[in-house]
Amino acid sequence: MSEEMKTTQPEKKKRIFSAIQPSGTITLGNYVGALRNWVKLQDEYDCIFAVADLHAITVRQDPKAFRKNILEAYALFLACGIDLEKSLFFIQSHVHTHAELAWVLNCYTQFGELSRMTQFKDKSAKHADNVNAGLFTYPSLMAADILLYQADLVPIGADQKQHLELSRNIAERFNGIYGKTFTVPDGYIPEVGARIKSLQDPTKKMSKSDENVNAWVAILDKPDVIMKKFKRAVTDSDAKVCVGEGKDGINNLIGIMSAVTGKTADEITAEFEGKGYGDFKTAVGEAVVEEVRPIQERFAQLIDDKAYLEEQYRRCAEIALKISQRTLDKAMKKIGYIPRPF
Ligand code: TYM
Repeated sequence: MSEEMKTTQPEKKKRIFSAIQPSGTITLGNYVGALRNWVKLQDEYDCIFAVADLHAITVRQDPKAFRKNILEAYALFLACGIDLEKSLFFIQSHVHTHAELAWVLNCYTQFGELSRMTQFKDKSAKHADNVNAGLFTYPSLMAADILLYQADLVPIGADQKQHLELSRNIAERFNGIYGKTFTVPDGYIPEVGARIKSLQDPTKKMSKSDENVNAWVAILDKPDVIMKKFKRAVTDSDAKVCVGEGKDGINNLIGIMSAVTGKTADEITAEFEGKGYGDFKTAVGEAVVEEVRPIQERFAQLIDDKAYLEEQYRRCAEIALKISQRTLDKAMKKIGYIPRPF
């Protein structure tokens, strides 16, 4: 092919895969750390997203609430801006290849590697009465999610970095044994907002599993609830709105403000010079309320249109199955399995 022809060929877009668990509360941390980037990346990349409902049963779920949460998560992520004309967006349990490849990858993942996962250590301490094998092998399922689609990039918050690294190791190990089978994915961790902290203990990440409801803000929290939570946010006695050591609470609020307004930390510091923490907390709350308002409006419309949601998750799962089956078949063949007869 001539040089000229090469340059006129449309470039193949890189592939993105990411997923979020459907819990009753999708937090500002999930939104700023991951979801918002999914939306931003849709034009530049070939994007595949999922509601990670298989992952969610590592902790016990109430069946009725679980079913509702899965559908609500699907509607909410669409409301956040996933565009079905550009991206594929499905529900993980509808695509059986995920569980199948997860089993295969379990056999290429070491006990020692899984034992080092900090999320496993944290979650098993939190749910001491239910330290199940799924909680332990969860990173192999996450690796399967990503590797099935030959993803180049995985947009995630900082807390998922260790799991992504394990996915890379598993892919490299498998490729090393059988020849190139999986694309080795890179993480895409945002510079601002990769680690949104608890509003009550800003040394910890904002987590939906925090028992103190004032610690997190949910995307679907009502405006007055959001304002109340920000007004109660823990700060320090320095009374100066600027980034600094020992100012975890204010650093976090500046991070949130910066993430939702696009202003830099310096711009925010200049804007609030001479103003108190009360004013600043109100301003951050208002900025978050404005950011989530259109999402909440779209969510209210979407969740009432069950037929549309079903049509979309069905269509996307069918396509996802075709794409992922190709990878699963390839991996199984390399291992030595007899190709599926149907
Ligand atoms: P999950 O559901 O716990 O979180 C979803 C996404 O939100 C990010 N996140 C945060 N970002 C910034 N600050 C926070 N406080 C914060 N809390 C959560 C997470 O980093 C994540 O990107 N195992 C994954 C879901 C998953 C997945 C995958 C992700 C399943 N398969 C394949 C990527 C690729 C999880 O439990 O994320």
